Amino acid sequence: MTSAVTQDQPPQSRKGTVPDDDSQQASVREEEYLYRDESRLQAGSQLTSRTMARRLPSLVRRSVQMAWRVDRGATIGLLVCQIGTGVLAALGLLAVTGTITALISAGDITERLWDAAPQLAVIAAATGLRALLGITVVWLTGRLRPVLGRAAELTMIEASLGAELAANNRPGYNDAYDIADRGAQVTPDLVEEAQDVLAATATLAAGATVLTVLHPVLLPLLFLACLPQAAAYVRSARVIYLAGLETSGRRWMLGKLRWHMAYQESGEEMRACLAGPFLIGRYRRLAASVNAAEREAANTGAWMGLAGAVAGGIASTAVWAALLWLLASGRMGLAAGGGAVFALQTATGSVRGIISGGARMVRTGWYVQDWQRFLDNAHGQAMADSRGTAALPAAPECFEVRGVTYRYDGAPDNSLTDVSLRVKRGEIVALVGENGSGKTTLSRLLCGLLLPTEGEVAWDHASTTDLDPWRLWEHVALVPQKFTYLPLTMRDNITFGQGDTSDAALLAACEASGAAEMLPGLRSGLNTLLTSEWFGGQQLSGGQWQRLVLTRAFHRQAALLVMDEPTAALDARAEHRIFAGLRELAKDRAILLITHRLTNVATADRIVVLNEGRIVQEGTYAQLTQQPGLFRTLWELQRRMSGDTP
Ligand SMILES: Nc1ncnc2c1ncn2[C@@H]1O[C@H](COP(=O)(O)OP(=O)(O)O)[C@@H](O)[C@H]1O
Ligand SMILES: [Mg+2]
Repeated sequence: MTSAVTQDQPPQSRKGTVPDDDSQQASVREEEYLYRDESRLQAGSQLTSRTMARRLPSLVRRSVQMAWRVDRGATIGLLVCQIGTGVLAALGLLAVTGTITALISAGDITERLWDAAPQLAVIAAATGLRALLGITVVWLTGRLRPVLGRAAELTMIEASLGAELAANNRPGYNDAYDIADRGAQVTPDLVEEAQDVLAATATLAAGATVLTVLHPVLLPLLFLACLPQAAAYVRSARVIYLAGLETSGRRWMLGKLRWHMAYQESGEEMRACLAGPFLIGRYRRLAASVNAAEREAANTGAWMGLAGAVAGGIASTAVWAALLWLLASGRMGLAAGGGAVFALQTATGSVRGIISGGARMVRTGWYVQDWQRFLDNAHGQAMADSRGTAALPAAPECFEVRGVTYRYDGAPDNSLTDVSLRVKRGEIVALVGENGSGKTTLSRLLCGLLLPTEGEVAWDHASTTDLDPWRLWEHVALVPQKFTYLPLTMRDNITFGQGDTSDAALLAACEASGAAEMLPGLRSGLNTLLTSEWFGGQQLSGGQWQRLVLTRAFHRQAALLVMDEPTAALDARAEHRIFAGLRELAKDRAILLITHRLTNVATADRIVVLNEGRIVQEGTYAQLTQQPGLFRTLWELQRRMSGDTP
């Protein structure tokens, strides 16, 4: 090291463009700051060891309930095994005391051995049976674990699907999701840890009974002796959990980076734009900072564990000393003393088991609690809480936006301000405007994907806020601006299991969208898997995918058809087909069409022009091309580019 550097002033890089350690550290700090969520950390730091230790019984109950829900047989089996283990431990201990009593009593040694024989047989049988029960526990847990893990994952997916689309913009939502997801992943651990605690408790009950019979002072002493260790374990678990909270934002970003770097669709940018090496660098730095935080927590945890173990060792010595004193002062007989040694050993072992299992369980419990909290209301974003459950009596005729203002959470400005718009079945309304003018946002509001910040979106006079969202979307066909390439067959990609799934219905929709042209090139026609990630599958081009997404929308017999730049990726012929077919589609549908192809919007009954979130013009194609304004400016520009006007 040649120079000492203060934290506040990372030095400039001295050797050309290669960043040195210090500037790297500065950028790590920057990234830590970027992906940080203070609110969760504050909530987490309010947890105390005592409150969590008190929650242990409810955690055990909860994990048993979870296991019960997914596999009753295995749950009953496990509970029986644990109780059986406890009973056998008690029997074994009593037999040990009996054996010692028999062996040290007066009389002939052969006779004494014969007296002890039944007790010895009980010890052997109990040990054997306990081993058998242990194997059964491993087997049943192995059956339960994966089922439980997958069930937990599914509940997470359901909860996030049940959240508002706008949730992703809400502060802390993604972080809450990440932490909850971790909770879902560790759910099976909770069951296993509950097992350990239950088993240890059962054995402790046996040891405690025997100890109390032998001398009443031994048991309280034993508990006192184990307290410091318990406190240390729980504290160290808390440190590790808090480190998890603190790094959750960064870990979320790591997950995102992993996904994008490995994701086939981003492959081109990763390579040709050199995004890959750039992102790997970022991944390394972020990972290093998360590693450092986790390592520090592990170190602190280990120190606490060590302190606890030392305290525990001293306390155990005191217990053994007390036992010796009881024996030496004649307060306890020799046979009872021998039994007490075994009982103490068993009880100490099981108290340690309860403590370590309990501490692990408390930590897992924190995560599981986060998971369950997320399931309850999706971090306050559950649609069940923000929307009603009303159903429409019939497919709606009219879709209306009334005086709507919308601002995305955390955005500095409104994306839409005081917008009103109406589309009826049989009508085509075109929405035009420059990038960022609010077209997509308006279409999301009309579909009920977003709820307005101010104003109302009404479907036949029913507000989208009052309607059951899933029933509402039965009436929507959407061609989103950004669509997903799902690794499903063409058939499933079109129908998503809904509507008329017959070939005839699908082929009609394919004809309308132009997807029929690509069918001969697909190995198994409609049943071709649309991805090359699996053998036998085939990947489509961007434009072909757009045709497919259009097919999906045409196939749905929905009252509202919303198309957000549906022809952006289409060739001229395909685009022409779509615009030419719109009138036919509009017969029993209300169509909202967002497009930049201004010459094509002549088909629309009305054109609505958006600028900076406000409607600035509205009229027919004939009107808008005549009157001066934004539409005509954009329209003339486009015509000039395509050489229609000199
Ligand atoms: N998911 C989002 N979160 C936050 N802001 C958004 C989101 N989507 C769009 N916006 C903002 O809303 C404004 C309008 O966007 P959008 O409706 O997508 O415009 P258009 O479709 O007309 O290009 C833009 O300023 C954009 O930054
Ligand atoms: Mg858009």
